[in-house]
Amino acid sequence: MRINKYIADAGVCSRRKADELIANGNVKINGITVKEMGVDVGRGDVVEVNGRVIETASKKVYVVVNKPVGMITSMDDEKDRATVAEIVADIPERLFPVGRLDYNTTGLLIMTNDGELTYRLTHPKHEVYKTYVAKVDGVISDARVAKLRRGVDIGGFVTSPAKVRVLRQMPRYAVVEISIREGKNRQVRRMFATVGNRVRELKRTQIGEIKLGRLKEGHYRKLTKAEIDYLREL
Ligand code: URA
Repeated sequence: MRINKYIADAGVCSRRKADELIANGNVKINGITVKEMGVDVGRGDVVEVNGRVIETASKKVYVVVNKPVGMITSMDDEKDRATVAEIVADIPERLFPVGRLDYNTTGLLIMTNDGELTYRLTHPKHEVYKTYVAKVDGVISDARVAKLRRGVDIGGFVTSPAKVRVLRQMPRYAVVEISIREGKNRQVRRMFATVGNRVRELKRTQIGEIKLGRLKEGHYRKLTKAEIDYLREL
């Protein structure tokens, strides 16, 4: 594991800050000051930051948060915008979001300090279906639904087959449930835009078998043992 990730996983600081610590000569591996950024740390290596030996997080914490509109899915922001870190501020372990949600998207976000699980879950090989409920402008015809299901070109990328269900069609808008396996930037919004329906509201309700349920916006709940086991086996 890269030294900056190791330090971040141990909960000392962000990866970016870890790079600064390394650049300033504050990090040692097995008693020797680290000079390069890209150094790997292996099992049994002793890492010191500012003269203190650090250990990777031993207690793994897994939560689901319901992200509100107007928060970014990172732990600190240079522009001082609200981040999902606020939702889990009372948890002493340093958690990281698994994947991303747009600033204006609400709903299910998994957060954990289990770096290995995060890596596996965000790796394309393990992509599970992620389900969203979108409120879109206008009428969504059967032909448009068929296109979304088959796959659409969102600009240099053709989406793979999606599950699509129209939950409600009103005169001026529709509520549509869509499940996709990939996670391209703003993918759901771009998919609907391609068929001519602008997304007005977007909420993620499910990742694989993990459900948001009745969790209120801005709140979190711990994952159950069964949910953690499920994620580990993906
Ligand atoms: N697709 C989007 O368009 N936005 C998200 O936040 C997630 C998926």
